[in-house]
Amino acid sequence: MTQDHHNRPVEQAAERSTKQESEGFTEQWSERCIVIVGMTGVGKSTIGAHLARQLARRFVDLDHYIVEKTGKTIPQIFAEKGESVFRLLEARALEECLALGSDVVVSTGGGAIVTPSNRQLLQGTPLVVWLRADLEDLIGRVSHDTSRPLLVDDPQAALERLSQERGPWYSQVADLSIVTADKAIPEIVDSLVTRITADSPLSTDGGEYSAGEGPSQDSLGGSATMIIERVQLDRGRSYPVIVGPGARHELAGLIPDDVRKVAIVTQQGIDVAVDPGVDHQVFMVEDGERAKRLTVVEDLARAFAQWGMTRHDAVVAVGGGVVTDLGGFVAATYHRGIKVIHVSTSLLGQIDASIGGKCGVNLVEGKNLVGAFWQPTAVICDTEVLSSLPSREFRSGLGELAKYHFLGGGDLQLLDLPKRVAACVRIKADVVAADEREGGKRAILNYGHTLGHALETASVTGSDGAYAIRHGEAVAIGLIYAAEVAFALGRIDEARLAEHRRVVHGYELETQLPPDSDHHELVQLFKRDKKAVHGITFVLDGPLGVEPVVVNDEDLLLECLSKMEHDRI
Ligand SMILES: NC(=O)c1ccc[n+]([C@@H]2O[C@H](COP(=O)([O-])OP(=O)(O)OC[C@H]3O[C@@H](n4cnc5c(N)ncnc54)[C@H](O)[C@@H]3O)[C@@H](O)[C@H]2O)c1
Repeated sequence: MTQDHHNRPVEQAAERSTKQESEGFTEQWSERCIVIVGMTGVGKSTIGAHLARQLARRFVDLDHYIVEKTGKTIPQIFAEKGESVFRLLEARALEECLALGSDVVVSTGGGAIVTPSNRQLLQGTPLVVWLRADLEDLIGRVSHDTSRPLLVDDPQAALERLSQERGPWYSQVADLSIVTADKAIPEIVDSLVTRITADSPLSTDGGEYSAGEGPSQDSLGGSATMIIERVQLDRGRSYPVIVGPGARHELAGLIPDDVRKVAIVTQQGIDVAVDPGVDHQVFMVEDGERAKRLTVVEDLARAFAQWGMTRHDAVVAVGGGVVTDLGGFVAATYHRGIKVIHVSTSLLGQIDASIGGKCGVNLVEGKNLVGAFWQPTAVICDTEVLSSLPSREFRSGLGELAKYHFLGGGDLQLLDLPKRVAACVRIKADVVAADEREGGKRAILNYGHTLGHALETASVTGSDGAYAIRHGEAVAIGLIYAAEVAFALGRIDEARLAEHRRVVHGYELETQLPPDSDHHELVQLFKRDKKAVHGITFVLDGPLGVEPVVVNDEDLLLECLSKMEHDRI
């Protein structure tokens, strides 16, 4: 382990500008007109009305405003004039409502965000609150509602598409965001009132941002290319994930005020320089999985102690999944837990490993056998640094990326890289929000992993336990296999199976088993998978989406493996 020293005290408070400061506005949050945005069915009108009552403000529902002005219902306007005329009416109505004064709470329709002029307005003076919910919750709420013209044919498909399209826009304009699932309306409203009346967008309390806190889009050096996602946890905890080219330069602004020393944990060869803006040292660990060992944790903790790090200081882990897993675990255990920020530098790390708080190290007996759940204070996914990633590592990330297509991501290939990374972060963040400690839903992130893990284990040839196949490469093959099994069980049709092949091929990833794979060995390895509590368990696609399924029919599993033999497809 090597160290390098660099002291540069920076006045933290000066680095943090809120949206109002960066745009020259002097109003506090509590003095600004509030606009509620979010997907159809998330509860914007109800929460907006309650919020207005609590803050003693006027409440305007944008759709009702349009109905009153035109004398027609929204479905009537859509049927008679079409969506484009409705959007024009909506844009005019929003402008008028924002001109009503600062003591107003306006709830918008889910699609108001689609109109560029509306987004421009929302990026100006109003305080924009983004209400979020799981797709499943939304589907449950709106599937029988015939008053929503865009959802009449196939509500589920429409909601998936709309949430994919609109998510980045909501994120772009929002000052605050809050997940509404499993929360009672008074709890949501109380949380918002606390935040709005507190006026400060950044929390330094305990190193985690509470609901809706964190930097706004405009506080990030005014960069229009940065996307902010939030991981919302229970008890009001949450943290921001900053995605975009150059995002590493936002690090100093994300270091909590009480942090005096920062230990930067990184690997030789990563060569991503960061400046946390406070006294810091760089602690180098060796390359590869070998860095994820308890002895390395001890070495780091001892070096931290010798440097005089206290429980108020922080770790910044700069690297791929190995470094963030290791850095997170050292942070979780040093002084019984100090803050950690991940600067994720690999594609796999950005869309998966750095999000969700799972960290740990390996034992000789197996991977990730010692670990913790330790949520970071913030995560930075700088897409610029991916250009130095070895191409095989990038491809490995693409295997995980392909997985997200089937977890609600839709056609991610249509997005540019930062948006694609952000979309994956959003999906993972939502899964983590629903299941922080892997009690249930988080299992869906294992899509493609039952065969994937088996292929990794089967690929070990040397005594060092190293896998010959990269994780994402194995997951890509595992996705196709999971689709074959789902098809054989009648859970998905041929078109969906073909879609799996199209997506994985689209990333130029392998879809066939490695040559000479031993099918019987793979089935034995399925039995050792950590999901196999009640028998061999796969995460499979199906009519209700992706879910864990016990599959004990070994003949069927072998038959599906034979369909994927190298020279068969
Ligand atoms: N905690 C979680 O939820 C979670 C999820 C998935 C995977 N993981 C873990 O993540 C690890 C795999 O992560 P990974 O695929 O990022 O591997 P990795 O961290 O080993 O990185 C791959 C290689 O790329 C190099 N590298 C990383 N960023 C670079 C850059 N910008 N430029 C040049 N080189 C760079 C690394 O030094 C390494 O040699 C595994 O240990 C796995 O267990 C954890």
